[in-house]
Amino acid sequence: MVKLIELTSGEFKKLAKLIYEKTGIHLPDSKATLLGNRLRRRLRALNLDSFDAYHKLLRVKASYEEELPHFLSAVTTNETYFFRNTNLWTFIQKKWIPEIVESRRKKPKPTVRIWSAASSSGEEAYSAGICLREALPNFAMWNVSIVGSDISDRVLERARAGVYGEYAVARMPKPLLSKWFTKKDEEYALKKDVQKLVTFKFHNLRDAMTPGNFDLVFLRNVLMYFDTEMKRKVLKNVAEAVAPGGYLVIGDVDPVRNDKELSAIVAMDYQGPNLYRKPQRVAVGAGESK
Ligand SMILES: C[S@@+](CC[C@H](N)C(=O)[O-])C[C@H]1O[C@@H](n2cnc3c(N)ncnc32)[C@H](O)[C@@H]1O
Repeated sequence: MVKLIELTSGEFKKLAKLIYEKTGIHLPDSKATLLGNRLRRRLRALNLDSFDAYHKLLRVKASYEEELPHFLSAVTTNETYFFRNTNLWTFIQKKWIPEIVESRRKKPKPTVRIWSAASSSGEEAYSAGICLREALPNFAMWNVSIVGSDISDRVLERARAGVYGEYAVARMPKPLLSKWFTKKDEEYALKKDVQKLVTFKFHNLRDAMTPGNFDLVFLRNVLMYFDTEMKRKVLKNVAEAVAPGGYLVIGDVDPVRNDKELSAIVAMDYQGPNLYRKPQRVAVGAGESK
C-alpha cells in the first residue's frame, strides 16, 4: 500500500504563510487537511517525499516560477457558474444596460467596459457578454470590452477555451443556452460572437489594475478568502478601476456595508444589496465622461 505523505502542522504553517504572501489568501488551521489533499498531487508529480521538500522547492526562484501556476491552482477555490445570483442579472439587464444606452445615446461609437475581477473560468464575464449581446440595440455600433482576470492559470485557460460542462450552464435561462452555445456531446461551447468580447489575463488583486475606467466591476466570492489587510488593498485597487458613475458589485458576503474603514476606501454610494456606485465626476462644464 502507498504510504500517505503527512502534512505536519509546522509544514502547514510554512505553506500557509507563503500562500498569504503570494495571494493574500488566509488559510486558517482548519484548512490543513484540505491543503494537504490538494497539494499531495503536486508532490507525486514532482516526486517529492515531504511537504517540507515542496516548500523548499517553492523557495528557490527558478523552480518557484515553474511551479507557481500549479501551486496557485491547487490553493484557490474556483466555484462559479453562468448567471450566478439571478437578481444581479435582472438588475444588469433591466436597469444597468438601459442606463448605459441612455448615457451613450449621442455617441457615434459608444463604449462599454466591464471587469470580472477574480473571474475563475469565465462564467461571470461571459454572462455579462451574453446580456450585452441580448440588450444593446445596434450591437455592431458598440465598442464592448470585457476583461476577466484571475491568479490561476488553469482557470484562465479554461476561460479562454469557452467550453463548459452541464454544471456551469444548469442555472442559466434555457433560451439563452440554446442561442449562445453549441452543444457537443456533453459539453457546451460558447459561440464566437460572445467569446470574442472577453479577454482573459493573469492579475493578482493585491496589485493595481491597469487603468480601465470600467463601467461595471464584479468582485464576487473572493473577498472572503482574504484577511482585513488584504481586503483593504483589494478594495482600493478595485475601486480605483471603476469609472465615475460606474458600478461595483460585491459578492454575497459583503464586508463593506457595515465597516466604516472599508466603506471609506470604496467611497461609493450604496445602491442596495451588494451594489455600489461611484459618484459622477463633478467638473465645471463637464459633459459625458465618454
Ligand atoms: C470562487 S471564485 C469566484 C468566481 C466568480 N467571481 C464568481 O463569483 O462566480 C474565486 C476566484 O478568485 C481567485 N483568486 C483568489 N485570490 C486571488 C487574488 N489574490 N487575485 C486574483 N484572483 C484571486 C481564485 O483563483 C478563484 O478563481
